[in-house]
Amino acid sequence: MFVLRFWWPLAILSCSSALIEIPADYLTAIRQDRADEDAAGDYNYDHQGADWTGTCDTGQRQSPIDLIFSDSTLSSIPRIRFNNYNQSLRTPLVLTNNGHTANMVLPLTRGGQRPYINGGLLPGDFEVQSVHFHWGSRSSKGSEHAINFVRYDVEMHIVHKNRRYESMGEATQQPDGLAVLGVMFRAVPRSRPNSQLYGLNKIFNQVPRIVEYNSNVTISGQLNVGQLLGDVVTGEFYTYNGSLTTPDCAESVTWTVFSDILDFPERQIAKLWTLKDSRSRPLINNYRDIQDTNGRPVYYRALQKL
Ligand SMILES: *[C@@H]1O[C@H](CO)[C@@H](O)[C@H](O)[C@H]1NC(C)=O
Ligand SMILES: *[C@@H]1O[C@H](CO)[C@@H](O)[C@H](O)[C@H]1NC(C)=O
Ligand SMILES: *[C@@H]1O[C@H](CO)[C@@H](O)[C@H](O)[C@H]1NC(C)=O
Ligand SMILES: [Zn+2]
Repeated sequence: MFVLRFWWPLAILSCSSALIEIPADYLTAIRQDRADEDAAGDYNYDHQGADWTGTCDTGQRQSPIDLIFSDSTLSSIPRIRFNNYNQSLRTPLVLTNNGHTANMVLPLTRGGQRPYINGGLLPGDFEVQSVHFHWGSRSSKGSEHAINFVRYDVEMHIVHKNRRYESMGEATQQPDGLAVLGVMFRAVPRSRPNSQLYGLNKIFNQVPRIVEYNSNVTISGQLNVGQLLGDVVTGEFYTYNGSLTTPDCAESVTWTVFSDILDFPERQIAKLWTLKDSRSRPLINNYRDIQDTNGRPVYYRALQKL
């Protein structure tokens, strides 16, 4: 009897906590990401960023921009190389509504590695940090960049930090501190089952659980960073020097935006439109206006020699 009375509660406790246990280093990364986000102060998308101040207002290499094929420099740029993108990440993953987007800080791989990219026009090795999305509403499209004057339904940003710098805070203050991959989504009414979308579907399936500001959900099961890219063709992209698209709009980003568009089910994208911001208003149209290029070169890498 003695054993039973104590054994049962202990077994249940350790069992349920094992299910939701978040490794300490991942928790620290999530909290740091949130602190960095909060440091930017209060902002919203009521005017698509036109009322943001500081570098957002005065900067000369701001993002997003219109990526125009006929204005870009075609050059033989290496492919982006994806390192450890096919390695399973540690579990669980935590998806958060931070009031501005659905954001997921990415943990290390099960082998303890940090997936990273290089190649393209990237000035070094850039380690993956987080992924988030920009979207419109039922009646508007919400990508940040436009390609040949076309805005798409959703733009996904996979944020990377130059290995040279210790922290995101430090990297954000350097012209070569960050590299962001941009992927455009096109909402399609009904799509054939596509196993390449497994990872993204897994994430979007949990979006209804982060409707409220500050809420989070854990995503369990195997996932790797490569799965975020779905079946997008990564050999063709625009690349240019720009900024963060949210305050403080730091001019620290080498942008790589793929010109191939990912077809994604509209019923999944519609889940984003249900999120709420810190004022309990619909979190929709969380994209910034197109910025002036100010004569910056935009390079284009083609799949085949043009
Ligand atoms: C990941 O990619 C590397 C390099 O292409 C390959 O050697 C390795 O076998 C792949 N691993 C998995 C788990 O697919
Ligand atoms: C997720 O939300 C719960 C409930 O508000 C909170 O206690 C927990 O700290 C959050 N977890 C993370 C990783 O932010
Ligand atoms: C970004 O700026 C640096 C320094 O001016 C330059 O060397 C590099 O080529 C630029 N990269 C792109 C993609 O424009
Ligand atoms: Zn973004």
